[in-house]
This record gives sequence, C-alpha cells and structure tokens, in this order.
Amino acid sequence: MRIVLGVGGGIAAYKVASLLRLFTESGHDVTVIPTEAAQRFVGTATWEALSGNPVSNSVFDAVDQVRHVRLGQEADLVVIAPATADLLARAAAGMADDLLTGSLLVTRAPVVFAPAMHTEMWQHPATVANVAALRQRGAVVLEPAVGRLTGADSGPGRLPEPEAIHEAAMKAVSGTGDRAERPLAGRIVTITAGGTREPLDPVRFLGNRSSGKQGVALANAALDAGARVRFIAAHMEVPPPAGVDLTVVETAEELREATLELARTTDALIMAAAVADFRPDSVSETKVKKRDDGENPVITLVRNPDILVEAVQQRTELASPAVIVGFAAETGDDDATPLAHGLRKLERKGCDFLVLNRVGRKLVFGQDATEVTILDARGAEPETVSGSKTDVAAVIVARVASALHRAG
Ligand code: CTP
Repeated sequence: MRIVLGVGGGIAAYKVASLLRLFTESGHDVTVIPTEAAQRFVGTATWEALSGNPVSNSVFDAVDQVRHVRLGQEADLVVIAPATADLLARAAAGMADDLLTGSLLVTRAPVVFAPAMHTEMWQHPATVANVAALRQRGAVVLEPAVGRLTGADSGPGRLPEPEAIHEAAMKAVSGTGDRAERPLAGRIVTITAGGTREPLDPVRFLGNRSSGKQGVALANAALDAGARVRFIAAHMEVPPPAGVDLTVVETAEELREATLELARTTDALIMAAAVADFRPDSVSETKVKKRDDGENPVITLVRNPDILVEAVQQRTELASPAVIVGFAAETGDDDATPLAHGLRKLERKGCDFLVLNRVGRKLVFGQDATEVTILDARGAEPETVSGSKTDVAAVIVARVASALHRAG
C-alpha cells in the first residue's frame, strides 16, 4: 500500500519515526512529507533513511513529475502526525500552500489525523470547529492522548502512541473505520465504564464484577460514529480504548465528581459504569487486623449518591447533556420481571434511555455475548438486541445519535 505520512511542526515529530517504521516493517511504501516547521524538529535525512524514499515539502521540487498532484492521487492512505493546530486549520480551510496540504486536497484516500498540541489549543473553539469540519468530510481525527505535555503542563494534547495511530490507520483503510456516514461528527460523548471500588482499609475494598468491556465497546462505537469521546474508567479488566480523553477514577465519589464536571459540556452521557450503591461509612487508615478476642469486624455501609440521578438534575439547570443513558442490571424477583423493574428504574432515574441487562452470576459480567433491552423514556417500544457487546454498542450509539439529531 502507498502511504503518505505528513509530519507537522511539533515536538512529537520524533515519535513519528517509530510510526514510520511500523508502516515500513509491514511492507508499505511510505513517502514522508514534513511541513517546513517539522523540518526544524526532525531532519529530512532521518525520514529519507527510514522510508527509503526522497523527502521534500516543496511543490517546486521534481516539477516535471507533478509531485503535488501525483502523491495525493496515488496514495492509498494519508496519515498526518503530529497534526498541529496550524495544520488542522490549514487542512480544514482547504489551503494548498505546501506539498502536504496540496496532497490533502488531491487525495481521495482515507485521511487520518493524529493531533498533538497544548490542551488550550486543542480545546480552543477554532480547533474544535476545524476538527468537526474535517470529521464531517470523512477524515478520521483521533483524540489526543491525555498526559504530560512538552512543558510542565499536562492534559489532553499528547500525540497518541504510534501503535494506536497505526491501528487507527489500518482500520480506516479496511473500511471498518471508514466513516461514510458519521452521525456523531462534532459531538462530545462521555462514557463511564468499569466498576467502582470502595476502600475498607489500605488493602481492601468493596467492588463488583463489572469488566468494562461494554463501556469500551461503546467508546469504540462512538468514535466510529465520529464523536469525541471522554472516557471515565473505574476499575476495568480490559485496557481503556485508544483515542479517547481518559479520566481514571476509583471510588463512586471520584466518578461522581468527574462525571458531573464533564457532563456540563457533553452532548451525550452514557452511564455504563457499575457504581457501588454503598460504601463503608469509615475507611480505616491502617490494615484491619484479626482480633485475639474472636470479635469479628462489623462494616457499616452508607449510601453513595446516585450519579445518574444527579446528572439528570444538573441538566435541568444547564441543559446539558442533551441525551442521558443509564444502565440497569436486573435479576427479576418475586415482585416483578426484569422489564417491569427496568421501566420503574427508567422513570425513577429520569434518563432518556435505560439499557436493561438481565444478570446472574454467570450472565453478562465479563462475557462477550450479551442481550439487552433498550427502554425509551419517550415511550417507544422496548428494543431487544442480542449479539456481541460491539453489536449492542452500535445500536445504543445509533439510538443516541438519532436522539441528538432530534434534540437539534
Ligand atoms: N448509577 C449511578 N450512581 C449510583 C448507582 C448507579 O449513577 N450510585 C447508575 C449506573 O451507572 C447505571 C444506573 O445508575 O447507569 C443503574 O444502576 P443500578 O445499580 O442498576 O440501579 P440502582 O439505582 O442501584 O437500583 P437497584 O439497586 O434498585 O437495582
């Protein structure tokens, strides 16, 4: 496959050498086009040696071969890393003032941008609008990773790891990531996932069996639909998804704080996390020891706040998020069926959708196959979906997208 690798003028350019190797080692023919600024960070010789192809960014080199048109036309994939705020702006504006932006205008191949910049730049409305415009046109713009930036600051803005960019690029070509229709382009979706842990003492906690798999599947489905995804991870048995703004939490209280804060500026909130309903009323500073007198410790539990309910309440003031999705794990009992419990919970919690799981010790938790029923507060017929967690996630995300579309 012919790949054009555009390199923007950011300090993260050095990491792109590893990305280039991932491409060449899997047999691809890569032409590197650094911007003029990028050449100040990594020299042309490095790119030529690693790619085995000549490197230039001038439209006036090799004019006889019309390179500014040919490279873009012949490419099967274009990857831009690091995509700086400036490069995103020039691409969104359709400028063609160097070989890289010219190639971007010419190409009809999938284009993947891997942004890296300071958090303020990434969050600036100008950049947000540019990213939305590029996604709307079908480009894949990855979410930057969260962490330490060039200076002392940290936050979203780090270049995603080369392996993550490589994976996203391959996905874009194989078609699974090729978003002809991107119903969540320009939208922000916040997803909570995993199970909270409530400490008893420095070594023990009360936890639950949530694996986080459904949350990860939801994040991938939302990314595929073009959303910017904020992912709040409590304890998970699987790694968090690539390409999201990641916040890691442990307790229900930490999850509450992160969720209510992010919900202020979110289009859709999906509460897939299994939140502990109770926590020990006190946490021992030291490890609780066995006692010689045979007395067993007594753990008193107190209620945790209901985050979903609070997010719904907060929405009445802030009008955000427009769409809120809750999950319910129900076993059913002598009083009512799982569906009846679910319908009551939907009303009690006040969210727009409730995704109902039937659970038992062996059912759902940690399993790949699942069956859920989606309850709709507007009174639409409950929809039962069975399949993998990926299949279920796609349906939930599609429901969220159409609800956001209705909300305007
Ligand atoms: N949830 C929450 N905060 C809590 C408990 C639950 O935000 N303290 C959210 C979960 O993320 C999920 C939904 O509420 O989206 C339903 O959680 P569930 O535990 O099934 O419901 P409960 O309200 O605990 O009801 P019950 O204990 O009666 O099953």
